[in-house]
Amino acid sequence: MNYQKEFKESLENPEKFWKEKAREVPWYTFPKKILTRDEKGFFRWFEGGKLNTCYMCLDYHVENGRGDQAALIYDSAVLGTVKTFTYAELRSQVALFAGILKQRGVKKGDRVVIYMPMVPEAAIAMLACARIGAIHSVVFGGFAPHELSIRIDDAKPKAIISASCGVEFQRIIPYKPLIDKALSLVEQKPEFHILLQRSMHQAELSGENEIDWDDAMANAKEADCVEVDAHDPLYILYTSGTTGKPKGVIRDNGGHAVAMKYSMGASYGTYEGEVFWAASDIGWQVGHSYTVYGPLIAGCASVFFEGKPVRMPDAGTFWRIIEQHRVKALFVAPTAIRAIIKEDSEGKLLKKYDLSNFRYLFVAGERCDSATFDWASKMLGVPVIDHWWQTEVTSPMLCNMAGYGLSPIKPGSVSRPVPGYDVRIVDGNGKVLGPGEEGYVVVKLPLAPGSFPTLWNDDKRFRESYLSHFDGYYMTGDGGYRDEENYFYITGRIDDVINVAGHRLSTSEMEEIVATHPAVAECAVVGIEHQLKGQRPVGMVVLKDGETISQEELEKELVALIREKIGAIAFFKTAIIVNRLPKTRSGKTLRKIIRKMADGQTFDMPSTIEDPVTLDELREYLKKNKVGMAFDS
Ligand code: COA
Ligand code: AMP
Repeated sequence: MNYQKEFKESLENPEKFWKEKAREVPWYTFPKKILTRDEKGFFRWFEGGKLNTCYMCLDYHVENGRGDQAALIYDSAVLGTVKTFTYAELRSQVALFAGILKQRGVKKGDRVVIYMPMVPEAAIAMLACARIGAIHSVVFGGFAPHELSIRIDDAKPKAIISASCGVEFQRIIPYKPLIDKALSLVEQKPEFHILLQRSMHQAELSGENEIDWDDAMANAKEADCVEVDAHDPLYILYTSGTTGKPKGVIRDNGGHAVAMKYSMGASYGTYEGEVFWAASDIGWQVGHSYTVYGPLIAGCASVFFEGKPVRMPDAGTFWRIIEQHRVKALFVAPTAIRAIIKEDSEGKLLKKYDLSNFRYLFVAGERCDSATFDWASKMLGVPVIDHWWQTEVTSPMLCNMAGYGLSPIKPGSVSRPVPGYDVRIVDGNGKVLGPGEEGYVVVKLPLAPGSFPTLWNDDKRFRESYLSHFDGYYMTGDGGYRDEENYFYITGRIDDVINVAGHRLSTSEMEEIVATHPAVAECAVVGIEHQLKGQRPVGMVVLKDGETISQEELEKELVALIREKIGAIAFFKTAIIVNRLPKTRSGKTLRKIIRKMADGQTFDMPSTIEDPVTLDELREYLKKNKVGMAFDS
């Protein structure tokens, strides 16, 4: 296969291109039409196709003699254990769990919220939903009850699936109190709750609608795969947008299956029988696509990792796993590599392991800084492939594609567009820009299969957030430029989304929460650079007249408030009292300038700025308190 030929074909004749790719997955009924528009005018793929995603992931492989092959390798650095599920074992567990859901009345189209740590039962629950045509919505276990409740209110699930606890560094986090709190906040409670008891902490269950996972499994009967339509939703995954309300990204069954199968080979160069590892929590898109669905649809073994790259027990854990499970390709956020470098900069732990089966390191989720790229390239001796995508689209849009044979790697670039994605750079008026010119990163419609058809319950927001900026283009929210060879460079978000340790969060949401503090008159939260986590949020607060709360006290309270409402993952540690926020004359807060200042970058003072004195004040504060990379010692 040749990249240039395939890319050209995908843009000139998308229906022919994707029809061929669609033949690679086992449909019950092959689609009647490849690309259509629905009654709302949104593009849809594979109309008339009938399938079941769980069948494609499990039963199909068992039927084809791969039942004894490893499907999921659960490696828990937290527990120091490994448990491998073959395709036959995983199919049977999933069919039983699907039987429980079915018996309790969950049917095609019902929603099920999954709020779990990285235990294999989380993947079993996801696949069980897919098996009976229910729509799962996984909520990252690090989110606080408030966040969970927002998602429950929007998805209105029939059931919630959880576990008794998660484990962080030397800390057990009981989940049941978090769920109970979330349920006390929602408008409509799920009908029942199934909870997996873990040995390190048992939760108290009460009433007949709180069900013990093991008890239910002991009496369960297997459920068969239910035929669904290509356009039926497989899952909803909430992601941060530019307001406090997260966006419910819908993934349909048909486009998703084709995108998963295609990308596993074409982008990741990993095929049936080989071992793939996406070291992401299943609460994020990477976990959905490349820890669960992608590797299984492709017949690979997927490493399902519970833990952190460091201190569990040390910074050699990733390399131990690559050796032990013969991992061919690893996908991580650069922050994980930075955490390893911090503890093992000379790679002494790494040298203890045999990485001879390892072929590729893929990084995405945030910018890969050159120090991390250089270290990984040198130490691992494999190509380090920085690639780019978003929750909205399920699979890479810009990637140096291993399946076509890698093209030269250019450090700092996320490489060229993946077939099916006509990525362009445009200016504010939608004019397409040439090489070297920085602008908005957009993608010409239609997006490739697997991309979201719309947002759950919110077509209006789908149109406004993504389609209304530039006619005929999908607005990614990122800025960037490309070079003469069509290699792209991402310069960062142009909106209020930040990426903290690979977790996508919204600064607007943090602003909304900070603004609820009784002493706060006005505030701004910006994401500034952070050596380990890539970005971190910093709040700037103007107090109400007459308020006498001290800087220290306010900061403590706001830190606690964000932890309570969003969760510790927000990494909100700094809130600064200022006299005024730097604003333009029209009243717009100059977030970009604040960010640049904290990052120690140069910036032009806009002529419209109302009060440059505020910036000096802020600069002094940042310096004095060592906030921001530029001032970190
Ligand atoms: N449940 C509950 N709490 C959680 C949690 C979860 N699932 N995940 C994180 N937290 C908490 C942590 O305990 C920590 O709390 P603390 O402030 O009380 O210590 C806080 O949230 C921040 O966690 P995290 O961002 O994970 O930071 P860390 O210092 O614990 O670990 C890294 C740093 C870099 C090792 C870790 O973030 C990491 O491995 N990141 C990679 C993520 C990734 O690969 N994502 C893939 C997406 S492409
Ligand atoms: P998420 O939806 O969590 O995958 O986050 C998507 C966002 O992460 C993108 O819009 C980018 O801002 C950022 N991102 C993802 N991959 C990269 C990358 N390789 N380089 C720079 N930023 C990236």
